[in-house]
Amino acid sequence: MTTFHRISMPLILLLLVALSSCSPNRSTEAPVKAANEPHRPFYHFTPDSMWMNDPNGLVFYEGEYHLFYQYHPQSTVWGPMHWGHAISRDLLQWEHQPVALYPDSLGWIFSGSAVADHQNTSGLGKEGIAPLVAIFTYHNSKLEQSGSITYQYQGLAYSLDKGRSWIKYSGNPVLENPGIKDFRDPKVSWHNPSQQWIMTLAVADHIRFYTSPNLISWTFASEFGKQIGAHGGVWECPDLFELPVSNNSTEKKWVLLVSINPGGPNGGSATQYFTGNFDGKTFIPETTETRWVDHGKDNYAGVTYADIPDADGRRIAIGWMSNWQYATVVPTKKWRSAMTMPRTFHLTDDEGISQLISLPVTELKQLRGKEMKLESYMIEKGEIQESAIPLAAEIQLVFELPADNIPTSFGVEIGNQKHEKIIAGYDMISEAFYLDRNESGDGSFSAEFKGKHTAPYQLKGNRTITMQLFLDVASLEFFAQEGATVMTDIFFPSMPFNQLRLFSNDGNVRLVSASIYPLQTDIK
Ligand code: FRU
Repeated sequence: MTTFHRISMPLILLLLVALSSCSPNRSTEAPVKAANEPHRPFYHFTPDSMWMNDPNGLVFYEGEYHLFYQYHPQSTVWGPMHWGHAISRDLLQWEHQPVALYPDSLGWIFSGSAVADHQNTSGLGKEGIAPLVAIFTYHNSKLEQSGSITYQYQGLAYSLDKGRSWIKYSGNPVLENPGIKDFRDPKVSWHNPSQQWIMTLAVADHIRFYTSPNLISWTFASEFGKQIGAHGGVWECPDLFELPVSNNSTEKKWVLLVSINPGGPNGGSATQYFTGNFDGKTFIPETTETRWVDHGKDNYAGVTYADIPDADGRRIAIGWMSNWQYATVVPTKKWRSAMTMPRTFHLTDDEGISQLISLPVTELKQLRGKEMKLESYMIEKGEIQESAIPLAAEIQLVFELPADNIPTSFGVEIGNQKHEKIIAGYDMISEAFYLDRNESGDGSFSAEFKGKHTAPYQLKGNRTITMQLFLDVASLEFFAQEGATVMTDIFFPSMPFNQLRLFSNDGNVRLVSASIYPLQTDIK
């Protein structure tokens, strides 16, 4: 463990040298990173090249996490959608696979999900092999161009070789369009109490639930959401799952995720969630309040893994780390977009209502190098403490508000020698966590990019504030108050962010503890 305190500017370089020579659990040496790819992250998933958006078909099967994704193999902008594919055994190292699903005469392959059909309810298994079944939206661009509105319907494909190759079901589509323009992104799950499959589908401004005994024939069950939640844009990419109301409770509640574009809390794309009950047919929310999975601008279309074994029991989510406001014009050349880190979802009881908690998956600890610690001290009014950090880092900060002379805001700036920076903080006046990327580097590609993004959060007398931050070259994932509030933002600095500055404005705040871990950068 290294301890340092109030480091002056000239020491930063020395520290960087020291950092690269410390002996971490696993190697933290810089990988060979293409010189023309300054914004390529180290430990976040990116396609090797070309365009990517939503994660699709997240399923765990025989020791492998599958990540399919919206992919355009011919371009770095969105177009005819395919399902790209990658496989991981640890949620950290991903192996790129060939494209899994290609467009066909029924249309492009839009977002959807995958499940392991262990009981072979579909009859698509063979010789004792349970099929992996993918259910996705066909988007028929020819129909769309002809002026029809029925151009989205659901199709099915299956795999008998652990997801390596896929066969389209000969009876597609499995769910026809009922005459509604936006009719997409099926998320399928097994509902044990009613022994049937549930399809949760985004339909323009609401969700529809369908049920099926076999993944092939689907019956409409109910709809939800026309009068509830955020409605600033179209509803997309839903998910439905059950979680214990707190980590050691036997009581459970259902969580419904609904992505919305535009209409997010800080503009553009974002994902809202509802908590309540689901009986296999109908979802009944427990509150009408609009709530968000992530208050940053860059976590969209996030969904969770199917078939995580009971012995593990986690609800693991991955989101697309971009925003439709500018996703197609961000300044990366060879590829576009990364996924968020995998996170786990939990519920916590807040005065009778369940709130969603997001935490980084524990696997990420395996990437940690040698911990550096900052000494506890009172950050005086206006004072800034500087430390050097690696390009891929986990930063854990605990602050405590003093009895008097409290600041108007405090937190951490992560930046470079050119004064480009992203600021993560808490604002005592507006009672909100925030990420400010106004001066984070290039923002010229879109008027919607720069800005200060806020997440309302009342301390309610609590004087301890925790911030856990994951930096990976061009993104920051900010988990505040043990995951009660999460913000994810991307940025494009002209030189790497390798400085960390703690600040306190117009008053004092105590730094109780600070740990900085370099994260391994030679991941595939
Ligand atoms: C969400 C989304 C989905 C759609 C897919 C198309 O980002 O618009 O609703 O299926 O992207 O790529």
